[in-house]
Amino acid sequence: MIYCEKPIYCWAMVIIETAKELIEYLKIYRNKELGFVPTMGALHNGHLSLIDASLQANEITVCSIFVNPTQFNDTSDFDKYPRNFDKDIALLAERGCDVLFLPTLESMYQRESLLSFSFGALECVMEGAHRAGHFNGVALIVSKLFNIIKPSRVYFGQKDLQQCAIIQSLIKDLSYDIEFNMCPIIREGNGLAMSSRNQRLSESEKEEAKALFASLELTKTNLLSGKSIKEAVDLSKEYLKNNISFELEYLEVANAETLQEIDSIEQGQEYAICIAGFLGRVRLIDNIVFVG
Ligand code: PAJ
Repeated sequence: MIYCEKPIYCWAMVIIETAKELIEYLKIYRNKELGFVPTMGALHNGHLSLIDASLQANEITVCSIFVNPTQFNDTSDFDKYPRNFDKDIALLAERGCDVLFLPTLESMYQRESLLSFSFGALECVMEGAHRAGHFNGVALIVSKLFNIIKPSRVYFGQKDLQQCAIIQSLIKDLSYDIEFNMCPIIREGNGLAMSSRNQRLSESEKEEAKALFASLELTKTNLLSGKSIKEAVDLSKEYLKNNISFELEYLEVANAETLQEIDSIEQGQEYAICIAGFLGRVRLIDNIVFVG
């Protein structure tokens, strides 16, 4: 266990590296409201907004940083995933986070797990359809973290909308006594959703990438003005072609809760427009939620 007092003017944050030590340490907080923010590090203001939400509602906030190998279907994406642990530690300590769980690989995976999760239709679309095994790895690591930390409340970002739906299913189906909170997407000034992977984009690519959010807004505007889903999606694909060299994986309009594709928009219903694809070698995702 390490006490981080850097920068020296801020509240000391405890850093713990094994599940066993964390379970022992958290015993002193057994009757306190505990907020938990799981991350894979390379922290930005999106992550820090989740920390702020937890700090506001809980007596103790725990953040985890673990680049989880089981959720990467592409090993080069795992290898290239940005890792800035010293900077992350300073950011969290400065923000007022109480405990950072920075586990070793061995502490999280003593052996190759054969557990497998099924989320039915929810995992057959979008990220589930394009990243085989991804949500199995997410569900595995998140349930391990929930079991170790036993949080009262957890904070996830709408940036990964489908992940939010998966975690909500996990909480229901495994009877975790945990309040789930989904926090809004934090964006750059030009609309680009903040992401750890943005660190791998050049400055000109970051500028180009604003077209993703613009294409989501365009789809929404066209749907609300009465265009069919096909027309609205085709117009946005055309817009993308003209504004960004993006290898589109999907641009879908779905029910915001089930994330299943829909045929038409009904008044008063909540919908999500979701996009994913590659800008160069960097995979980016984004979404907006709106009421029809
Ligand atoms: P990671 O990509 O590091 O994201 C951690 C949390 O930050 C997620 O809940 C994600 O949705 C949220 N987040 C990312 N960018 C955001 C933004 N621009 N605005 C608001 N929130 C944002 O998601 C994961 O890690 C992993 O799958 C994890 C849950 C930690 C399991 O390994």
